[in-house]
Amino acid sequence: MATAAPTLSSQEVNNARFNAEAAEWDNNKKHVESVQKCLEALLRYVPELADERGKNFDVLEIGCGTGLLSLLLAPRVHSLVGVDTAEGMIDAFNKKVAALPSPDKANLAAVNVLVQDADDIHVQGAAAALATRRGESGKDHPYRFDLIVSHLTLHHVPEMAPLIVTLFQCLKPGGRIALTDYEDFGPEAVPFHPKSKREGVQRHGIKKEEVETIILGAGFNEVRVERAFVLRKEVEAENGKPEREMDFPFLICLGRRS
Ligand SMILES: C[S@@+](CC[C@H](N)C(=O)[O-])C[C@H]1O[C@@H](n2cnc3c(N)ncnc32)[C@H](O)[C@@H]1O
Repeated sequence: MATAAPTLSSQEVNNARFNAEAAEWDNNKKHVESVQKCLEALLRYVPELADERGKNFDVLEIGCGTGLLSLLLAPRVHSLVGVDTAEGMIDAFNKKVAALPSPDKANLAAVNVLVQDADDIHVQGAAAALATRRGESGKDHPYRFDLIVSHLTLHHVPEMAPLIVTLFQCLKPGGRIALTDYEDFGPEAVPFHPKSKREGVQRHGIKKEEVETIILGAGFNEVRVERAFVLRKEVEAENGKPEREMDFPFLICLGRRS
């Protein structure tokens, strides 16, 4: 009798997909364009990042991938720790960072972990290593962050509510989240991913009211979930509709831990 192949968890499906895509990730112009638009939105919604005040920010990035956003943010902030569940993405991140001149990589680190606890030893270790590298090891423990960002990752997370609670706990008092992902604006949002990439997708974009409720429920103040930018991209032919270009709105999800 044939033995059934073991069923992969959605996390394993995602990790396999992103491990396979990591080496070519940055060569996709739409990946680069969406991150550029994300950065522009962050500079508008978190204005400290646009001036010297950002230099005081310790940033945590969830789903940092190859570091497309991390490397743009790093020169604007004090430190940035990226986390990602796909080892291949972290390897690509580390290769890029290793090639930077020493002063440019002093405040950047990434770890391959699923963060479920603010005191996660990998995150704490990365933050401590950055502090030591910068001669700041006397800083308070455990490490907490001023800003948490995440781009195009929430739609892969099986349960958003526990993650948002963990993010709340990862923040310093006064710290903020600024999370971006494409919006679920109805069935038309489904073609954002071609059929071949839909298996590890937990939701076809994020819903404004649902995320707002989750962020409020986690204890955040100053909660806002707004359309921040639009990404135009080609989608494949499906359900009798031809290959075409579509506009996908992106939401920015904001909240502050008071
Ligand atoms: C669509 S990619 C975006 C990567 C990067 N933010 C960018 O825009 O180039 C989503 C990333 O989130 C990671 N990911 C998925 N679920 C995650 C989780 N729960 N925690 C951390 N990373 C996760 C994936 O491994 C992948 O690298």
